[in-house]
Amino acid sequence: MASSLDHLSDIDIADPAIYERHVPHESFRRLRDEAPVHWHDWSDRSKGFWAITRHEDIVAISRDPATFSSAAEHVLLVDLDPDELEARRSILETDPPDHTRLRRLVSAAFTPGKVAEYEQATREIASELLDGLIAEGGGDFVAAVSAPLPINVIVRILGIPSEDAEFMVELSDHLVEGTSGVPLDPTTYGNTTPLSLLPFSSPASHALFEYGRKIGNERRDEPRDDLLTLLVQAEVDGEHLTDPEYCNFFQILVFAGNETTRTAISQGIHALLDNPDELERLRADRALIPTAVEEILRWATPIMYFRRTALRDTEIRGVPIRRGDKVVMWYVSGNFDERVLPDPYRFDVGRTPNAHVTFGGTGPHYCLGAWLARLELRVLLEELIDKDLRLEAAGAPERVRSNFVNGLRTLPVRVASGA
Ligand code: HEM
Repeated sequence: MASSLDHLSDIDIADPAIYERHVPHESFRRLRDEAPVHWHDWSDRSKGFWAITRHEDIVAISRDPATFSSAAEHVLLVDLDPDELEARRSILETDPPDHTRLRRLVSAAFTPGKVAEYEQATREIASELLDGLIAEGGGDFVAAVSAPLPINVIVRILGIPSEDAEFMVELSDHLVEGTSGVPLDPTTYGNTTPLSLLPFSSPASHALFEYGRKIGNERRDEPRDDLLTLLVQAEVDGEHLTDPEYCNFFQILVFAGNETTRTAISQGIHALLDNPDELERLRADRALIPTAVEEILRWATPIMYFRRTALRDTEIRGVPIRRGDKVVMWYVSGNFDERVLPDPYRFDVGRTPNAHVTFGGTGPHYCLGAWLARLELRVLLEELIDKDLRLEAAGAPERVRSNFVNGLRTLPVRVASGA
């Protein structure tokens, strides 16, 4: 393939094992500077891809679904057969006008006004989890707070019984393992569907579909004031979600509302521990909380990329892109692009402006749950400061083996003081 620069051929930004150690920031910086539209071979796993690493290009591609499609192929690196793609298709893998219809069916539940209604429940959950950590004198912050907070919030909003929250966390963990390259046992959770037909190639998707279908049927029979009822009753122009649309949407809510926000929380606390001056700045001036939330989102970049597929021959920065080529927007590079975000490797809780692409590059697929994620981060920071909770690192964090989610498996902390 044309345009590969020999001196960049050593760069690998796709191997999950690299991310288990660290995000390859130096490789991304070289690509941004020397080859912002770079052909990356990936012949051992699937065909290669165009690595898009500059902020400006990520935004332009996100806003042009007529050229760069989410529906033509998978939105992750790995290719799928057409039947696999069809079986796994969610709102993420649609283009307008299908996307517009789906989005209209569900967007009412995620407006800033609607999300504000979830603040009290979020605060209760965050406060209780932090109290638990304080009572234990510390522990693994991921297990104690980052993992249970978002899943309990989404479970509460959806209207899922709280005794099933643990099961939802477990299933979400299994979904991430589907992106690790490590083979999974296909029969887990009684699954009989070939893994290639399941989202994230994980048997946990089967379990989520089953659970979602069961609880959706319950709400159809007995509606309540919750998001599940809204989903099963959602109607625009006489249309409802079909069964596969509903199942895939349920599954994506549990994953998207959970794993991503968990990562933002873990990476955010990790960054504050690594930058104690910034934490003190925040404690001294609560007015900085909104900018601190945005900086945590930039720094954490919980989803490191999404992919599009070119629908026609085109070019980006003069580099020819052929119809059918994979075009991968590396948000984790765009969020550290010096051209838009000065001094990007500095964690600055007062950073303004902060045009991060953590929720996507502002196109039609811009994260539906962005306001909910922001609410959870804000409330957690407020509670942490109100409780005057002071944490210390108690060991090195372990990273998730994935080139897709920038997750921490563990974050050991000690409670130095806290009420
Ligand atoms: C910090 C947390 C989060 C991050 C980093 C994140 C990231 C993203 C990104 C990058 C996209 C764009 C996908 C694309 O362009 O193809 C997206 C879409 C989406 N997100 Fe999030 N997300 C987060 C939290 C949430 C939450 C809390 C929910 C719901 C409860 C959610 C639900 C969704 C949905 C449904 C979509 C698909 C929207 C569409 O295709 O129109 N996300 N998210």
